[in-house]
Amino acid sequence: MTTHTTRPGSEPMSVLDLAARHRLSTMIEGYRASALVHVAAELGIATLLAERPRTAAELAQETRTNPRTLGQVLRALCGLGVLAEDDGALTLTPAGAFLDPRHPMSLHGQAVYFGGPSYLSYSGLVESLREGGIAFDHVFGMPYYSYLDREPAMAEHYHRMIALPAGAATVIGTLFDFTTARQIVDVGGGNGSLLAEILTLAPQARGVLLELPLTEPSALATLATAPGGDRCEFVAGDFREHVPAGGDVYVLSRVLANWADPMCERILGNCRDALRPGGRLLVFEMMMPDQVTEGMRVVDGDMNALAHLGGAVRTRAEFTALLGSAGLKLDRVQQLPNSQWTLLEASLA
Ligand SMILES: C[S@@+](CC[C@H](N)C(=O)[O-])C[C@H]1O[C@@H](n2cnc3c(N)ncnc32)[C@H](O)[C@@H]1O
Repeated sequence: MTTHTTRPGSEPMSVLDLAARHRLSTMIEGYRASALVHVAAELGIATLLAERPRTAAELAQETRTNPRTLGQVLRALCGLGVLAEDDGALTLTPAGAFLDPRHPMSLHGQAVYFGGPSYLSYSGLVESLREGGIAFDHVFGMPYYSYLDREPAMAEHYHRMIALPAGAATVIGTLFDFTTARQIVDVGGGNGSLLAEILTLAPQARGVLLELPLTEPSALATLATAPGGDRCEFVAGDFREHVPAGGDVYVLSRVLANWADPMCERILGNCRDALRPGGRLLVFEMMMPDQVTEGMRVVDGDMNALAHLGGAVRTRAEFTALLGSAGLKLDRVQQLPNSQWTLLEASLA
């Protein structure tokens, strides 16, 4: 094997060692790419360049930024392969095209959100590990959902970004039969798109969407146009305090990962109080495998949950224990094909 001596007196370093060092170095400096793409998204650079090529000076004028320093940032975005420059004319590369908010598969919202509050919250991780508390709260001085409540534009990005893709309910419907349900309560159901789609699988059922008041505008807009949305009532509330009774199926989709165990027990306890005998609680979450190996994306969701809200993606054993401590028993666990997404079915213990 080829070896390189790096310093006088040190052991020779193999090509593999150097490659490993380079990988770590890329991780250490990865923040720069996130930050630059975030700047481009915030300034609406892709919207302008999707119309026609522009010079750095034109972009500076249109974004009301400093021409000298914007020029440096645009150059760095060329270096990243987000923009390309030809004789002073800047254009979007195929990757950069996804930053245009009008693109049908746009990543603009992700860039604004992950490069903004999400990225900043990670800088509070060391403090939260040493002193307790939640990284986001250390950095922003308030909890995550209070922040979103004060930043409606960011809340809009958040809800658009987290919405499950169309067809998710249909996949869940292959694992659970909704056709006999009369009332389906989606606890923390986001903008209601999942519940509305579930209702199309259960034509006889009515839906109740329990959500924070801040979600009401986006939920009402979604329900007004989604098939099934006309059978769905929006209830503003707090699942930590109360979950409406009367449902025979309760859905908790991608909620528990956002909370630490004591709060999950409280939310599940409120679901248990609302459940009647024979009722079902469906928990839709990512499940953490017992052992994580390189490349498993499930840890990304786990870390976001930790940094933003002090939550976690849980293992099967952890779910069983959590449900048990809230007086519920885990009846069935089904994994969605080719994914980490799991449907857990629980009932009164
Ligand atoms: C990750 S999202 C999941 C949304 C939806 N269930 C889905 O799977 O698409 C978590 C949701 O919980 C809602 N939420 C957070 N705190 C809440 C609370 N205290 N009471 C009710 N809903 C809450 C948020 O507004 C957000 O829509």
